[in-house]
Amino acid sequence: MRSKCFIQFCFLFLFAIQSQFIIAQKKSFPQKVDSVLRLMTLEEKIGQLNQYNDDWTATGPVTVDNDKANQIRKGQVGSLLNCMGTDRTKSWQKIAMQSRLKIPLLFGQDVIHGYKTTFPIPLAEAASWDLEAIQSSARIAATEAAASGIHWTFAPMVDIARDPRWGRVMEGAGEDPYLGSLIAKARVKGFQGNKLGNVDAVMACAKHFAAYGAAIGGRDYNSVDMSDRLLWEVYLPPFKAALDAGAATFMNSFNDLNGIPATGNKYLQRDILKGKWNFEGFVVSDWGSIGEMINHGNVKNSYEAALSAITAGSDMDMESRCYKDNLAQLVKDKKVSIELIDDAVKRILQKKFELGLFDDPFKFCNAEREQKEINNPEHSKIAREVAAKSIVLLKNKNHLLPLSKNTKTIAFIGPLVKEEKQNLGFWSVELPEIDYSKLIVTQWQGVKNKINKNSTLLYAKGCDIDGNNKDGFAEAIETAKQADIVIISVGERRDMSGEAKSRSNIHLPGVQEELIKAIQATGKPVVVLINAGRPLIFNWTADNVPAILYTWWLGCEAGDAIADVLFGDYNPSAKLPITFPREEGQIPIYYSHFNTGRPARNDSDLNYVSAYTDLSNSPKFPFGYGLSYTNFQYSNLQLSKKKIKSNEKIEVTLNISNNGKVSGEEVVQIYLRDKVGSIVRPVKELKDFAKIKLNAGETKTIKFIIDKEKLSFYNQQLKWVVEPGDFDLMIGSSSEDIRLKDSFELIR
Ligand code: BGC
Repeated sequence: MRSKCFIQFCFLFLFAIQSQFIIAQKKSFPQKVDSVLRLMTLEEKIGQLNQYNDDWTATGPVTVDNDKANQIRKGQVGSLLNCMGTDRTKSWQKIAMQSRLKIPLLFGQDVIHGYKTTFPIPLAEAASWDLEAIQSSARIAATEAAASGIHWTFAPMVDIARDPRWGRVMEGAGEDPYLGSLIAKARVKGFQGNKLGNVDAVMACAKHFAAYGAAIGGRDYNSVDMSDRLLWEVYLPPFKAALDAGAATFMNSFNDLNGIPATGNKYLQRDILKGKWNFEGFVVSDWGSIGEMINHGNVKNSYEAALSAITAGSDMDMESRCYKDNLAQLVKDKKVSIELIDDAVKRILQKKFELGLFDDPFKFCNAEREQKEINNPEHSKIAREVAAKSIVLLKNKNHLLPLSKNTKTIAFIGPLVKEEKQNLGFWSVELPEIDYSKLIVTQWQGVKNKINKNSTLLYAKGCDIDGNNKDGFAEAIETAKQADIVIISVGERRDMSGEAKSRSNIHLPGVQEELIKAIQATGKPVVVLINAGRPLIFNWTADNVPAILYTWWLGCEAGDAIADVLFGDYNPSAKLPITFPREEGQIPIYYSHFNTGRPARNDSDLNYVSAYTDLSNSPKFPFGYGLSYTNFQYSNLQLSKKKIKSNEKIEVTLNISNNGKVSGEEVVQIYLRDKVGSIVRPVKELKDFAKIKLNAGETKTIKFIIDKEKLSFYNQQLKWVVEPGDFDLMIGSSSEDIRLKDSFELIR
C-alpha cells in the first residue's frame, strides 16, 4: 500500500514538474521577463543598465577598471562592448554565469560596414541606390559578427548629413530623408535577418537619436539648433523607418538639440520614440554621453546626470558609470521611481530573451561556426559586387573609360595605389588574428589582375596623401611619360573622415592636386580615382581631367572592384547620395532647399538676389548625379490623371531606353514640388526611384504611383497633411538633370 502511494506520489510529482516546464515554455517573453524581474535586487536591476567597454579598442575616453570581472560576477553589468570572438565572449559569459541570477551579458560592437569582410563605407554603399545590395552587405556583416559571439551592432547610423565638413558623413546615407529612410530599413533588415534569436542575426541600433548630423559648423559633438519642422521633415524619418523595420535598439546622441542634450532629452526619447512611436526596444546612451551632460552645463554632477538620462528615457549607460554610481541613491531619495528602473530593465531583459540567451548564454559562441562564417569565400565575392556598385563615374570626356585590357603601358601613380588598409575606411573592424595584407586587394593588385599579360604596369607614388613634399613629382612625371594612359589614385587617409574627424578644409589634401596638374601637363590621357569618406573639393581636376571615378573607401575588395569599373567589366551605375560643393563657403548645401523670396536665376545676374557675390550657388556635382558607359533616353511620360482627390492615386509611366552599345543600370529619379504650401516647400523632393538594368538597345516601361503619402508634409502644427494645389513632377537622371516634366493638381 505504502509503495503504491509512493508510486502515485512520484507520478504526480513528475506530472507537476512537466506541466510547470510546459507552462514555462509557453510563457510569453514579457511573462518570462517579469518572472526574472521579480527575483532581482535593486542592485542587480541597475547592473542590467550598465554597459562597459572591454579592453580591446575604444572610441571614447576609457576608464581603467580592473574590477570588471568581479562586478560581472555580482550581476552589476548587463552588457559589454568591444568584446569580439567566440573565445573572448565565452570567457566573459562564463563569469556572468557565476552571478546569482545567471543573467547573460549582451555583447555589442560597432559593425558598421562589415565585420571580417569589410564592405564599402556606408556613404559609398548609399551611392549604389541598390537596396538589395545594401541589405546583403548588412546580412553578411551580421552573419560573421553573430558567428563571432556578437549579439548587437551599433548600426545603422541613420543621421542625415548635409555638411561634408562633419567627419561622420561617411557613416550615413547622405543628405536625403527619403533615400535615407529606405537605406535605414534595408540595413536593419540585413542586420536582424529573418528573426532575432537566429544564430545569424544581430540586433540593430538606429543611431544617433537625434539630429547629430546637423552639428553647427560641421564640428563633431557640437550643438544642434533646429526647428521642429526640419527635425520632423528631414532628420526623424530615417529613424522612424528603422523602427518600422523592427530595429531592436536605439542609441541617443552626443549633441544638444535646441539646448537640451539628446541623452537627457525627454521630448526625443519619451515623447516621440517611446510615446508617439511606441518603441518597445531599449535606448543605449552614446559613449559616456550621460556623464558628458555635466560638460554641456545641463546638470551639475553625475547624480543629476543619471536622473536626467533615466527620466528622459535612456535605458542603458554606455561607459559613463553614472547609473551604477547614482541610481540606487536616486531611488532611495525618491527622485527615481522603481517603476522607471523596472521599465528600463524589462526592455533589456526582453531582448536577451528574444536572442535566446536565457536558454543558451553561449548560443553565439560556437568556434566552428565562427571559422566557417568568417572564412566564407562567398562573402568577398559579394563585397566586390557591392564595391563596384558604389563607384561613381563623375566625368568621362570622349569616352576615355572604360580602358582596354590590352593597353600597352599603363602608369598607376599616386599615394593610394599600393595602400592596403586605407581602402578599409574608418569604421572597419580589424580582428587581431587576421592578416589583412593577405585579405585586402590593393588597387595595384586589382589592376594587375585585370590587364593582359603583355601589358606593362608602371608605378610611382608621386607624393604623400598629406603634406607639402613634391620630391616624388619628377619620378611620377617620368613614369607618366612612358605610358599610354595614366591612372592617378588620390584622396584622404581613412582617418581623415570618421568620428571626431571634422575638417574645415575639405579640398583634396596636400599637394595631390598639384601632382594631378603636373601629370596632366605631360599630355597623356589621365584617369583620376578619388578615395575619400566625404565629398571633397577638387575643382581643377573636375574641370581639366578627362575621366574621374569617385571610389570612396570600398573595403577589402576595393582593388578588384575598381579594376572591374576601370576596364568595363562593371558599367558604373552609382549616383551621389550627397551634394558636392564648389567651396566650403557653400556649406550646408543640399538639393531640396527652399526657393527664397529672391531666388538667383543664374550666376550672372546677381543684383539683390539670394546668392554669393563671389561664388555660384550651384554645386560642383549635384545630388543624384553619376554617369554610365552607356546613354539612357527618357521618353513618353504619361500620367493616368491630371487632377486627383487626396484619396486617389496617379499612375506615372515612362519609357527608358539604353541607346548605347553596352548594357547598364540607370537610377530613374522622381522629384516633386508642391508649388504653394502653408509652409514653404522645397524646390524639389525625391519621392521615388527605380534602379533598372537595360541591355544595349533595350527599352523598358516603368511605373510609379503618386499617392497622398507622397504629397503630404508637416504643417505648422506638425500635423502630417496634404493641401490642395498644383504640383510639379520632375523625372531625371539626377536632381539637376531633369529629362521629363509634367504637373498635376490635388483638388478637394
Ligand atoms: C560613437 C558611437 C559608437 C560608440 C561605441 C561613440 O563614440 O559615437 O557611434 O557606437 O562610440 O563605439
